[in-house]
Amino acid sequence: MVKAFVTGWPVKHSRSPLIHGHWLRQHGISGEYRAEPVAVEDFADFIATLKSGASPYVGGNVTIPHKEMACRLADKVDSIAGELGAANTLWLEDGVLHATNTDAHGFAANLDERHPGWDQAKKAVVLGAGGASRAVIYALRDCGVAEIHVVNRTLERAQELADRFGASVHAHPMPALAELTQGASLFVNTTSLGMDGEEAPAIDFSAMAPGALVTDIVYVPLKTPILAQAQSQGLATVDGLGMLLHQAVPGFEKWFGVRPVVDETLRALVIADMERHG
Ligand code: ATR
Repeated sequence: MVKAFVTGWPVKHSRSPLIHGHWLRQHGISGEYRAEPVAVEDFADFIATLKSGASPYVGGNVTIPHKEMACRLADKVDSIAGELGAANTLWLEDGVLHATNTDAHGFAANLDERHPGWDQAKKAVVLGAGGASRAVIYALRDCGVAEIHVVNRTLERAQELADRFGASVHAHPMPALAELTQGASLFVNTTSLGMDGEEAPAIDFSAMAPGALVTDIVYVPLKTPILAQAQSQGLATVDGLGMLLHQAVPGFEKWFGVRPVVDETLRALVIADMERHG
């Protein structure tokens, strides 16, 4: 029986077992995908056991706080994980542990599905400069968005990303937001702004380009305060749940040999789980 894991600390809130379990059933594969809580101090041993072939696994997903360490410990890191400095998907091939990062794919595939043509954007604004923002910037640069403006409370973090990702990426402090939305055709939120009980900052989307899209990579709640504002101002929006679902596709294919599809049944399954557990 082929087995794969998701490891993190904590990992019990991960929805990956639900997603992969659904695909295993759908394809009648006698495989298993399970959560492996591993503390930071035990992660190197976990990876060493995986590499030695003594663990039951062919590979798995890696989540917070192990993504950077996974990238350092893998034998063969592909160019995307290398550039992001973080891996979320591992697999063994002839005893060699490979690592990639599927978050940028998940981001782009979600928008391909729900708002085709999004990738024609010439100017995009990305709010936030954390780990998740990197994958978004990578995806935008990869599809040729000419101007990518990263806006962050801590300017230095945005500047670090601009330095890392090259000439199309520009760093700005928060007060620049209003001006930057002018003529932009894509706005991506990667922060928890407006959640955790704080009030969302008012964002005026009215000067964005005709047909502009606002999307969020946060998916709990599905309609984030920023998406709610964009909708009330008449803009098209896409929620972040599809990014979670699509980032899981390449890993499942590596471990279990079938490329699964993100469909409405899967989406409904995860939404029902979110409603049960919050
Ligand atoms: P992740 O890996 O999920 O992106 P992170 O690395 O903690 O998480 O980054 C969170 C992002 O949300 C950062 O851009 C953070 O801004 P700072 O770099 O200034 O910390 C942003 N963020 C979180 N809470 C915020 C708030 N109340 N106001 C403005 N930005 C906030």
